[in-house]
Amino acid sequence: METIISQNAREASRAAGSAVADLVRNKPTAVLGLATGGTPQRLYEELIRARREEGLDFSRVVTFNLDEYVGLGPNDSRSYHFYMWKNLFSHINIKPENARVPNGLAADVPASCAAYERAIAAAGGIDLQVLGLGENGHIGFNEPGSAFDSRTRVETLSAQTIRNNARFFGGDEKRVPRHSVTMGLATIMEARRILLLAFGDAKAAAVAAMIEGPVATKLPASVLQHHPDAQVFLDPSAAAALKRARFA
Ligand code: GLP
Repeated sequence: METIISQNAREASRAAGSAVADLVRNKPTAVLGLATGGTPQRLYEELIRARREEGLDFSRVVTFNLDEYVGLGPNDSRSYHFYMWKNLFSHINIKPENARVPNGLAADVPASCAAYERAIAAAGGIDLQVLGLGENGHIGFNEPGSAFDSRTRVETLSAQTIRNNARFFGGDEKRVPRHSVTMGLATIMEARRILLLAFGDAKAAAVAAMIEGPVATKLPASVLQHHPDAQVFLDPSAAAALKRARFA
């Protein structure tokens, strides 16, 4: 894992955003894996800027989002589908049919998860996956205990994740859905390149465990230690608990 500690979250997002923009420039048919949450918002602003100022072309880009809440549809402002259109898709020239988000309303969830995996494979696999990091070390919604060979499936949210995400539901934990559909750890690990972003001191412990701790399912992101091309973009607070940071 390559660790890049920038002066602040803005610089880190700029560096990660340029890496994504470079890929799209060099491979106009790139397949991107995308994340939601607060962390990647500035990265998406970078992509929107590249579209606006340089005319970066997303017309042949295909994207697959990591996860979605079960029970929330595209028109629900708390769904990840809605988030993606608000924060990225409506500002770039991506074709709607190429911007894929797991279906939180599927009648047959396992069939819909299997179809999502097939769609990723049919697109040629993910060239670059953007990831955030949960305070408990989750990636996507792969909570502690998720199997390393897991694929797109339903996952039950942990109490900590429900607490952390309550801010998107009016601060009310009771309104946070209990289940999600998420790409699995094996799905994520098949991406050819991974960029994980983590900012702020609330992420410091998970960042240190991910980079310097044992590879263990209790900290799902630690599996990234086995990825051949993974870069971690941090601000100084998120890097604060790293013991070997100066050697990164
Ligand atoms: C959420 C999402 C993750 C995200 C993480 C961190 O629950 N499922 O994909 O990376 O938690 O969120 P944030 O970036 O808001 O800290």
